[in-house]
Amino acid sequence: MFRYVDFMTNEYTAMYERSLGDPDAFWADAARGIDWIKPWHSVLDRDATPAARWFVGGEMNTCYNALDRHVSGGRADQAAIIYDSAVTGVIETYTYAEVLDRVARLAGVLAARGVGKGDRVIIYMPMIPQAAIAMLACARLGAIHSVVFGGFASGELAVRIDDCEPKAIISASCGLEVNRTIEYKPLLDRAIEIATHKPDHCIIYQRDMLVADMEPGRDLDWAEEMASAVPHDCVPVAATDPLYILYTSGTTGQPKGIIRDNGGHAVALKWSMQNIYDVSPGEVWWAASDVGWVVGHSYIVYAPLFHGCTSVLYEGKPVGTPDAGAFWRVIADHGVVSMFTAPTAIRVIRQHDPDGALMAGHDLSRYRSLFLAGERLDPATLAWSEEKLGVPVIDHWWQTETGWPIAAASLGMGTVPVKPGSPGPPVPGWDMAALGPDGVELPAGEIGALCVRLPMPPGSLPTLWNAGQRFVDTYLSGFDGFYETADAGYIDEDGYIFVMARTDDIINVAGHRLSTGALEEVLMSHPSVAECAVIGVADAVKGQLPIGLLVLQVGVEQDNEAVVRDVVAAVRDQIGPVAASKSTAVVKRLPKTRSGKILRGTIAKIADDDEWKMPATVDDPVIFDEITEVLGTLGYPRR
Ligand code: COA
Ligand code: AMP
Repeated sequence: MFRYVDFMTNEYTAMYERSLGDPDAFWADAARGIDWIKPWHSVLDRDATPAARWFVGGEMNTCYNALDRHVSGGRADQAAIIYDSAVTGVIETYTYAEVLDRVARLAGVLAARGVGKGDRVIIYMPMIPQAAIAMLACARLGAIHSVVFGGFASGELAVRIDDCEPKAIISASCGLEVNRTIEYKPLLDRAIEIATHKPDHCIIYQRDMLVADMEPGRDLDWAEEMASAVPHDCVPVAATDPLYILYTSGTTGQPKGIIRDNGGHAVALKWSMQNIYDVSPGEVWWAASDVGWVVGHSYIVYAPLFHGCTSVLYEGKPVGTPDAGAFWRVIADHGVVSMFTAPTAIRVIRQHDPDGALMAGHDLSRYRSLFLAGERLDPATLAWSEEKLGVPVIDHWWQTETGWPIAAASLGMGTVPVKPGSPGPPVPGWDMAALGPDGVELPAGEIGALCVRLPMPPGSLPTLWNAGQRFVDTYLSGFDGFYETADAGYIDEDGYIFVMARTDDIINVAGHRLSTGALEEVLMSHPSVAECAVIGVADAVKGQLPIGLLVLQVGVEQDNEAVVRDVVAAVRDQIGPVAASKSTAVVKRLPKTRSGKILRGTIAKIADDDEWKMPATVDDPVIFDEITEVLGTLGYPRR
């Protein structure tokens, strides 16, 4: 269903050109969508370092914009959050007034325990409304939250505790996966034990299905604290103050703490709901993601609430809770007009229900559009979704760093047509270029480094937590005057962006961003492992899966199978089950160039059954025979 028309003639073009021609005026207009305590003196400070800053001098409060102003403005009784838990069968609706009441009281609890503006609070929770309430309570106080995805294990949590040094941690007794209960509290206790920094308090939400053991003095029971809490008012913060830190995979085991500011974030996200997603205040919107990811921050919690929408918070999976019709049931039951998920979720639904038979019986008449992001949308999944749902299916491209979409065939600015294989033209505010290795802009159609011409629009990261130099080195140093996305791709003659591959060692597993470097660090920590390589290989459902190849120490008696078992368990234990790192094998040697670089790309091509050529610089061509054989024992290439 390829509907190409000349997009250069529509409303989008006018907006796009204005956003680049006069960004100050464009974003000052958009900022009218937000309530300010004090106006800014400078819309954009281009001279700020390490990156330009938006709405400098302005003061506001993010929680006020998400809740209070809607309660006083006539939405008190409108649903703000619909919690739909397919794993427990519970459905609860929280009005704006109810969410505000809980958020103000939790802010009171935190304040009474000494948490104030600028203090960090880690939130380690499953997909329950209390997670969103905790985020908003921090925002209310001007405290900086850092949500850690529940699928990460103690090791990853400990790294984050040491990096952001939280005064408090908010968690729950457990999360629920399809076939097991995840006990969060022992994972949290272990992380605090490993970490050097210790929080003063942990506030634990005890779920009915599992009551966690508490450490007297440190741990506080959410329900008990809330019962006696004094509601706390919004604390004014500078537009440039941090709202949150969200850690994302870098090229080492040390994740990058992406900082989001308050003012620019609120302006960009509020603007995006209407202009990109075409969703209006009062409508029901659903981002089927997790609050632990940027999609959850931006489009489960903040953007829909800034815009006065109802946001569905879904605790469940696309399949298995109970079946591949779960998404269609949620859309129908709650009158969802538009939803957002990752292509992997659609692929797994399609795998279980290729004919879309489970859509039958669900009233999807109010449903208007499907947005997909987080990984490349393959044209087959796009075509299947368009055909089965009969609504526009929009691929859009963004990153934890940017906080909101860089490219999209936006629905709220007239018709921006879809081109399969492309997440669309750049969204207003994003000045894009594909650059060659010498930093020169490439002609249409040529693959290069996809970069954003500075300054970036509001909402994108101003720097990294505790790592200003790393921010410059990682994103700004490669090409003078540009932010480097670390995605490679091209821009076609119509301005459409095609994202082809990462330029670093990040792989994308079921929409989760993982660093092969971080996985290799875990494998290398095993005493028997002398050398290793982790490679991302194609997977029909998850997009990519990691494969680990180990070279063992010589001169020591080894039980290869035991080492493999140990390292698989270590990844699960230190990084978490989401790494899905199950395919690991021992090899005698790894193929390398004469200068010692492991030929990961060639190994991936063999595993993916792609055409590959013997690299001219390889030190020993025979080695590929063994690699091919070992990949075969792991089931690669898939037939
Ligand atoms: N807490 C604890 N464990 C978690 C978890 C969480 N929040 N989320 C996932 N896990 C576990 C799973 O139980 C699984 O464990 P297992 O190895 O014991 O089976 C493992 O981590 C891998 O999980 P996942 O990658 O989710 O695979 P899956 O087979 O359970 O489900 C999909 C596959 C496609 C259904 C699922 O990955 C999905 O819905 N992905 C969408 C991702 C997404 O929304 N990304 C955000 C960007 S929009
Ligand atoms: P994350 O920071 O986890 O959101 O991951 C961001 C990365 O996911 C991007 O840099 C891309 O590599 C990939 N990605 C996200 N959306 C898309 C998309 N629509 N098409 C292709 N790749 C995408």
